[in-house]
Amino acid sequence: LEREASAAFDAAADADALEDARVRYLGAKKGALKDVQKQMGGIDPGDRKDAGMRLNAFKSAVQAAFDDSKQRLGGGEADGIDPTFDATLPGIRPSIGHIHPITQTITHLTEIMGRMGFEAAEGPEVEDPHHNFVALNIPEDHPARDPLDNFYLSTAASLADGAVARDRGIEGSQLLRSQTSTVQIRVMENRQPPIRIISLGRVYRPDAPDATHFPMFHQMEGLLVDRHVTMANLKTVLRVFANNYLGEDVEIRFRPSFFPFTEPSVEVDFFWNDAWVEFGGAGMIDPAVFEAVGYDPEQVSGFAFGLGVERLCMRRHSVTDIRDLYSGDLRFLSQF
Ligand code: PHE
Repeated sequence: LEREASAAFDAAADADALEDARVRYLGAKKGALKDVQKQMGGIDPGDRKDAGMRLNAFKSAVQAAFDDSKQRLGGGEADGIDPTFDATLPGIRPSIGHIHPITQTITHLTEIMGRMGFEAAEGPEVEDPHHNFVALNIPEDHPARDPLDNFYLSTAASLADGAVARDRGIEGSQLLRSQTSTVQIRVMENRQPPIRIISLGRVYRPDAPDATHFPMFHQMEGLLVDRHVTMANLKTVLRVFANNYLGEDVEIRFRPSFFPFTEPSVEVDFFWNDAWVEFGGAGMIDPAVFEAVGYDPEQVSGFAFGLGVERLCMRRHSVTDIRDLYSGDLRFLSQF
């Protein structure tokens, strides 16, 4: 019977014929093997063990003959190989992450400013009103301190002075910094001029997200303090920076403006898609700020600027919607 089965499997010319042969010999209901199994009941108990072993050997032999034929006909699943597997196809590379475009931009900006002698400094994102406002000449009743324009925290420290402190943003409260100008104060409190630093980091404002706004974004703050610093120095540094980062043909414009911590103040615009777009503010450090950090305004002068990092990145890479940067969409991010 074993030889007969094996010959039938060998003779099968296609998968259907082989299946017929399988049912005939190995079929669970009417297969020849089943018939042999049924006869086991009639065997003398003393011989049963031996007969059982021979039946199993026979079963394996028939099964092996079937598997051989199946493989011969191309149905490779018999030994666990996927018939659609093609060993000659190139493999799929595991995807590895890479650096976020904003982090790449921060590295690039730090490098450009570093070539002009600006050293990177950092400050905390959770700030107190002294560094975010008071020392920057923004008094208590100034609209910039409005709870509607800032993220005040309701932490234990903030509430130590009561909910009133938090609501009004007065001393004793804490907030997510709304500008990196806080770092100017922290650096000047701890060092003497000459100072030449930049600070790149996150700032927070409760703006509704749209193509050009996001409640968290990054700024590049610059601060230079020395003797006889002029507005011409400020404009030169920003121009050289812009030429390096955005190209020799970039058009930059300084527009008179106002900030409590600089006098005079300017807004910095770049020409982008047929329009002037504001990228940040700048100006000469206000004497009140020097006094707040213990410098003598008669002895030192300086400039500061704060530029939007997302805007710089978007302009350089022609990104039109800031939300793309924070969507986590790999189709967008993997382009950088
Ligand atoms: N801190 C200002 C802002 O966020 C920008 C600025 C920085 C202006 C430094 C002047 C000097 O709008």
